[in-house]
Order: sequence, then C-alpha cells, then structure tokens
Amino acid sequence: MKTIFEPFRIKSVEPIKMTTREEREKLLKEANYNVFSLKSENVLIDLLTDSGTSAMSTDQWAALMKGDESYAGSPSFYRFEASVKDLFPFKHVIPTHQGRAAEQILTSILPGDTSTQIIPNNTHFDTTRANFENAGINALDMVIEEGKDPALDYPFKGNMDLVALEALLAKEADRVPLVMITITNNAGGGQPVSMANVRGAKEICEKYNKPLYIDSARFAENAYFIKLREEGYQDKPVRDIVREMFSLADGMTISGKKDTFSNMGGWLALNDDEWAEKARARLIMTEGFPTYGGLSGRDLECVAQGLKEIVDEDYLKYRIRSIQYITEKLDAIGVPVMKPAGGHAVFIDAKSMLPNIPALQYPGQSLAVAMYIYGGIRGAEIGSFMFGRQPDGSEKPAQMELVRLAMPRRVYTQSQADYMIEVFEEIVRDKDQLRGLEITWEPTSLRHFTSKLKPL
Ligand code: F0G
Repeated sequence: MKTIFEPFRIKSVEPIKMTTREEREKLLKEANYNVFSLKSENVLIDLLTDSGTSAMSTDQWAALMKGDESYAGSPSFYRFEASVKDLFPFKHVIPTHQGRAAEQILTSILPGDTSTQIIPNNTHFDTTRANFENAGINALDMVIEEGKDPALDYPFKGNMDLVALEALLAKEADRVPLVMITITNNAGGGQPVSMANVRGAKEICEKYNKPLYIDSARFAENAYFIKLREEGYQDKPVRDIVREMFSLADGMTISGKKDTFSNMGGWLALNDDEWAEKARARLIMTEGFPTYGGLSGRDLECVAQGLKEIVDEDYLKYRIRSIQYITEKLDAIGVPVMKPAGGHAVFIDAKSMLPNIPALQYPGQSLAVAMYIYGGIRGAEIGSFMFGRQPDGSEKPAQMELVRLAMPRRVYTQSQADYMIEVFEEIVRDKDQLRGLEITWEPTSLRHFTSKLKPL
C-alpha cells in the first residue's frame, strides 16, 4: 500500500498560521536570511529539529498529573528508573535535563589527565564533541568509508571503522578512557549501526579493557533498522533488540528529547560503581538531587511512559516509512538526497543541487532560504555556513553542503509531506535562479545561530 497509515488519531491540534510568499519574503528579510531568527509561528512546516518537538500521547499527558515533585525519593523517579532499566540493563541511572548535561557529567568523571586523551566515536554529535574538546580531549570520528558518501546505498552507514579502532587502541590504549558509538549516527545522516558492529567494538574494547558507551538518542529507530536489515533479527521484537545492544555496552548517554517523545529529558546510565558515585556527586552540583537530576517529577513520568510507546513497531514502521517516502519522492523529482533514508531526517546535498553557487556563498543556506520563501518550510543548513569559520579566523569550505529536514515525531501527516514535495518541485524548476548569500555580521562562535546575511 502506498498510503502511510499514521497509527494514531489526533485529539488536540495546533493551528498553523498560513502565510503568503510575499509575507514570507518580508519576514525572512527581517530575520536577516537566517532561519533561526524566524518566529516559529511564521513557519508552516518546522523541520529544524526532531528534538523536543514530538507530539505527546494521551497517556503521556495523563502521566504528567502523576508527577510527584518531592525533592528526594519521588515515586516518579522510581517509575522512570524502572522504565529505563526495562530497556537498558544498567545498574545506575542518573537523570539529567537533557543529553548534553549527561555528556558534561561523563566528561567530568573521566579518570586521568583529559588534555592528553582521545575518544573515538563513529561520529561525535556537536555537543558531545564540544564537551570532550572543552576538556582538552581529542574527539576522533571513525565512521566507515561507506558512511562518507552521501549517494551510496549501504544498509549500515553509521558503522564504526573497527580496523581503525583496533589500530588506535593497539597504539594509544593508555590515552583512551572510553569508546563511544552514536546510534543512529546523527551527524552522518541518521544512519544506523548494526548489532554486529557494536559486538565487534565490544570485543575490541574487552581486549584493551576499555568501557564502551552508546550515545543513544535514536536507539529505537536504530533497533528497527536492525530488524529490517540485519540477518537473524527479522522475528525479534524491537524491545529485545534494544536490550541485546545495550547489554554489550558499559554505559550510555542519551537525549530524552527524541525517542522518548518527551519535550525535555536525558540521562547517564552505567555499571561502574565508582564512576556512578562520582557522577552523582557532580549531578548534585550541576543538575539536582539524584532522584530528580535536572527534571521535574512530571518530566520523569513523561519519559517513563514514552519509553513504553517508542518500541511499538506499528509506530516505528510509520516513522521509518515516512522519512523514506519523502526521500524517495525528492529523489524522483531530481533533488539529490542522502541514501538510503536515515531514521529521523532527510538530508539534501545542496552542493550537487546548486552547482553554480560556490561553497563560500553557502548553497545549503540558499536552499534553506528558498524552502522558506517558496513554502514556509524551515530546515537547517549543515555546511560551510555552519562549519566554515576556522579557529585562526580564516574561512574554508566544509566537506559537505547539506540541508537537514528533521521530522518531529507524530506531528506531520502524509498530506503535509506531499505539500513539501510540491514545494520542492517549484524549487527544482527555479533552481538556476537561486542565489548565494554573504554574511554581513557574525558572532565569534557558533555563527549559524545568530549571523546576519544578505542575498548576493
Ligand atoms: N547526541 C545526539 C546524537 C544528538 O542528536 C543530540 C541532540 C545530543 C546528543 C544532545 O542532546 O539536545 O538533549 O542536549 N541533537 C539535537 C538535534 C539537538 O537537533 O539533532 P540534547
């Protein structure tokens, strides 16, 4: 069947304010051609991120009322902890307000002189990299070669290069406090990591006596890809695939704003008692008491309920299929997309779509601007506008010029997806007329969030 069955009914709706192209041209000019500066009420379809933007279920809204806000020993914490342990068999669960707080706490408890250390990962997410680098750690990316070619169709493009991992540990084991794997590999296109790859990494870690940590934001999407694509998993429930994968790890960090359908949340979970004790001491200093961390009781309830819902395979089928659907349709009308479709987002290769716009005139940003003007769609540039400024002040093109359309969970329908495709048909028709941009003002760091631009 071609129609995607959305396995839910809509009980509460948020109206979308309609705008005309003329209005959007004016709004974008006022926002200095930076989509981060737009007011979200002026966006028709907001694909800036899938983080914290999910629609909660009736059971989650009901769970909010059960939230117990006691400072210590709240039943909400124990329900949260039980839900986490049901999927992720770790001894200690430490709640944080979001993923980057868990990363910060993990960084702060690493033994030894961090300024000499190296942490390998398939691809570090920005905040993970920033936390490690801030402690002087060399955050090393080690995704397989297949993962670097946007057009190559390969089932597990998020896999870690195990040969490179073994070579690093053979040479520099003393400098590596832990090994990390990100599932799905967000910065590499939301591509999954196979069970065999995690098992292989675990074997190497055991040989060198290193803990393996999983950066787990989109664990359920990753598990569903394993069910679809990895031999031997077709008949396994997603819940069991998740448990199997995490039983190979020594710990996890997670942003609870993605695959738990929550607007806020995260945690660090681990087996090592000594590390856990240090982490709790740090948690009290920076987030809160260990039975609430950075969260209110109602947030803990919401995550606990979301974890029960995310492993529902009717939902995961709809989720993965809707990203595939948009990717296939864009591909069919000549938009160069990253293949195969990832778990949470569609990635467009703006370099090959707009070859007449030089990298330092930001083809990805030009496409993001066109998406908003033509159809009120907001996506994020991941290219030279985001990464071009070098620490020495010079500017150089990024490796890729991508635009990410990240899909919030349970929020948009197939007809809204069809609307997006129609908008892209118009952009494709006019693509030779799209212009690059120049930056008229930029801050000293993370320029993509606040820079001002103007079209050339
Ligand atoms: N790890 C991964 C793989 C992520 O995708 C994110 C967030 C984090 C860690 C940090 O978690 O936001 O809860 O502090 N990704 C969001 C995104 C922001 O848009 O991809 P956080």
